[in-house]
Amino acid sequence: MNGRKQAPAPPACRLCAGPLHEWVDLGPQPVSNAFLRPEDVGRESIFRLAVGICADCTMVQQLEAMPTDSMFRADYPYRSRTSAGLRNHFEQVARWLHRDLLVRPGDLVVEIGSNDGVMLRTLAAAGVRHLGVDPSAGAAQAAAAAGVRVRVDFFDERSAQAIRAEEGAARVVFSANTISHVADIGTIFRGVDRLLAPDGVFVFEDRYVGDIVEHAYFDQIYDEHFYLFAVRSVAAMVARFGFDLVDVERIPIHGGSLRFTVVRPGAHERQPSVLKMIEDEARFGVAELDTYLRFGRQIDRIGGDLVALLTDLRDAGHRVVGYGATSKSATVTNYCGIGPDLVPFICDTTAEKQGRLSPGAHIPIRPHATFSDPYPDYALLFAWNHAEEIMAKERRFVEQGGRWILYVPHVHII
Ligand code: TMP
Ligand code: ZN
Repeated sequence: MNGRKQAPAPPACRLCAGPLHEWVDLGPQPVSNAFLRPEDVGRESIFRLAVGICADCTMVQQLEAMPTDSMFRADYPYRSRTSAGLRNHFEQVARWLHRDLLVRPGDLVVEIGSNDGVMLRTLAAAGVRHLGVDPSAGAAQAAAAAGVRVRVDFFDERSAQAIRAEEGAARVVFSANTISHVADIGTIFRGVDRLLAPDGVFVFEDRYVGDIVEHAYFDQIYDEHFYLFAVRSVAAMVARFGFDLVDVERIPIHGGSLRFTVVRPGAHERQPSVLKMIEDEARFGVAELDTYLRFGRQIDRIGGDLVALLTDLRDAGHRVVGYGATSKSATVTNYCGIGPDLVPFICDTTAEKQGRLSPGAHIPIRPHATFSDPYPDYALLFAWNHAEEIMAKERRFVEQGGRWILYVPHVHII
């Protein structure tokens, strides 16, 4: 012992055990989809929402994980079919899978996180053999009503093994906005390994950290988005689990996402898209700590500006209402300390969220009809990823003098 204090070791990357460099701390945060009944106030699970980047494999990830069974419960309220944009996108995905990949009679497609069947319903209607896997009984019920078969379960080695035994190998495993939610992501890849046919294809879509940084979409950081994917980091991750990233495509969903195509080594040729995007990422600094430290400072600024604006509007006697009780809004409201004093309620079309309080900030969620009864002076658009669809639908709000407040990439009024 030489009496000198040792600096604590940095936390370790969940994938490669390399050192994680923290670049933002968004403070204590709740489960972003845990909309609560008034009687449940005081019984929320809270965790520290901090994000780092691994110095070795470059994967951006949270430092503390909320347990998956706190996040994905039977009453998980999110429903993809509430958005016309998402309905349209997933119908296109289904048509593409059917045309290009599910070409042989009897080919099986399994979807991890099938939610309300927004994607599988099109394949089910076309008579394609399919199975959704989703831990939310409520979402599975909605999917079943659309003719989709669902196993109410988490996808992991155990359930994948059972599905393989019952249904045979899958030609396609698909997942959208799900696998990044699982800190122990190896369990997903080991499951896919058990389930996928030798020449099968694993396609997954998720938000792109390059778009998140470029447009300062800091509210895409919440408990469920444990990993924020880039092409370089995902290529390294899938290789670690014995797969090969053979194609990647940018898609406009949720402000900017990627569609990854992953196979067993040698099963399909790698497309030029993968290397090209890794080169683009190097130019943009997607793997650089400095990029994220800059982003962290930008988040600070946005938070300060938003609270200042909302405070000014309230003090001037203006009415502000939140629009879209998104998971993203949990990060914004709890990071900035925005409560019902600044935003008295949030309107949302999802029946499962109405009558509840927003997690952490406890802002009441009201049905969409309350938005126009009467219209507020300002609407704070938490569902900015559906801006086009929402603004088209709410033309009357603007016509009679209403204004939209957006906070990404900076606070502005339109
Ligand atoms: P998301 O950004 O995670 O997709 O969540 C969007 C939320 O906004 C979801 O709770 C549904 C709600 N919503 C509306 O209230 N009205 C709309 O027109 C749309 C598109 C979404
Ligand atoms: Zn790593």
